[in-house]
Amino acid sequence: MSTNPYPLGLRLAGRRVVVVGGGAVASRRVPALLDAGADVLLVAPEVTPALQAHVDAGRLHWRPRRFAPDDLDGAWLVQVAVDDPLAAASVSAVAAERRIFCVRADDRTAATAWTPAVTRHGPVTVAVLGGGDPKRAMGVRDAVRELLAARTGPLVDPGEVDPGEPVADAPLAGPPAPTPAGSGDATIRPGGPVGRVSLVGAGPGDPELITVKGWRLLTEADVVVADRLVPGLLLDELRPDVELVDAAKIPYGPSRAQEEINRILVDRALAGKVVVRLKGGDPYVFGRGGEELLACAAAGVPVTVVPGVTSAVAVPAAAGVPVTHRAVAHEFTVVSGHVAPDSPVSLVRWEALAGLRGTLVVLMGLKNLAAIADTLTRHGRDAATPVAVIQEGTTGGQRSLRSTLGAVAADVGAAGLRPPAIVVIGDVVDALTP
Ligand SMILES: C[S@@+](CC[C@H](N)C(=O)[O-])C[C@H]1O[C@@H](n2cnc3c(N)ncnc32)[C@H](O)[C@@H]1O
Repeated sequence: MSTNPYPLGLRLAGRRVVVVGGGAVASRRVPALLDAGADVLLVAPEVTPALQAHVDAGRLHWRPRRFAPDDLDGAWLVQVAVDDPLAAASVSAVAAERRIFCVRADDRTAATAWTPAVTRHGPVTVAVLGGGDPKRAMGVRDAVRELLAARTGPLVDPGEVDPGEPVADAPLAGPPAPTPAGSGDATIRPGGPVGRVSLVGAGPGDPELITVKGWRLLTEADVVVADRLVPGLLLDELRPDVELVDAAKIPYGPSRAQEEINRILVDRALAGKVVVRLKGGDPYVFGRGGEELLACAAAGVPVTVVPGVTSAVAVPAAAGVPVTHRAVAHEFTVVSGHVAPDSPVSLVRWEALAGLRGTLVVLMGLKNLAAIADTLTRHGRDAATPVAVIQEGTTGGQRSLRSTLGAVAADVGAAGLRPPAIVVIGDVVDALTP
């Protein structure tokens, strides 16, 4: 008789799964069960801090005691995550009696189900069983993961997705998609295919600082509309057939250009294309991402927003400046300096910011740096406050200088620093320097 396992994808949403044991194995298994929507019951006298956090957040039920047979009432699956073979055997005996599949961490030969090694790529899950050898399974899984990560192009052709099969990425915002609940990566409409737009944060400049999800969506795109500050290397790796729209080259003034970008996003999506709007840093930090989302929503185009690593935090970090530090700064404020402090259209109360003790991170502030420094000192911030200015942070072209609020404008001029740059004002600038 063959002893090959029969692979299945368990749909656990709302179904009771019992985890027996509260140690490291349970801590590793529980997140995937919760991710599958399982109704998790944890049975263990004690649990790890990670499991306690799930309990505290109300994500699972915890019976703080040893296993009893009635714990399996209503269960579809049981995961035994205890070291003690006798205790584990008694759980699997009850499970077998009740015809409940049982995964055993202590002894896979005694288990009625095995947990595969898994890699997830959006809606696609690859699960590998290694014939009872977890190391073999992980080795194959890692090889598959590398192949998929290196691959460009969609893993799923949106035109081929079965509309009855929900896929993973529900849009974070936008109009209700006409596909079943939970759908979002591919949208089929009665009047023909409608594409989608993903507003993806590309991170501050280092191409490795895009998120895993952002990178995956980029590899699936038919059209990429890219900002000036997005890492060029990311664009180098696009498929040759991808339409690349350089948003920085769109003529007209800033507001007409934004209208034109909105139009391109909507038109391409309505033509059935998978569109990525790739933006520097995070799409919602001085990135006009909200306007683009509203334009797509108004046109009935589904939108997914993928947050990015913002330069406001990452660029100071790249120059050795933490935006907060224990006993130094309990707050950091991110502000745009593109409008002069005395301009009637300024929305920033610089005089109030001058009264703060913590860290001030100024984006787009080089042009108005002298006026900003002057306004802050006039309203009470000490002219000796340390300042760091970082140009092209996280990239090969990174340059930075340290100064004080009183001297920074002159120092930046002398050093010839230019945008894009970030100005960090506060004692954190010296926090990590001996
Ligand atoms: C229009 S804002 C966009 C910010 C972006 N959405 C983010 O979250 O990082 C552009 C400004 O961000 C700052 N910036 C972005 N990337 C930077 C980098 N690599 N180095 C220094 N400053 C950067 C500069 O102040 C630049 O003028």
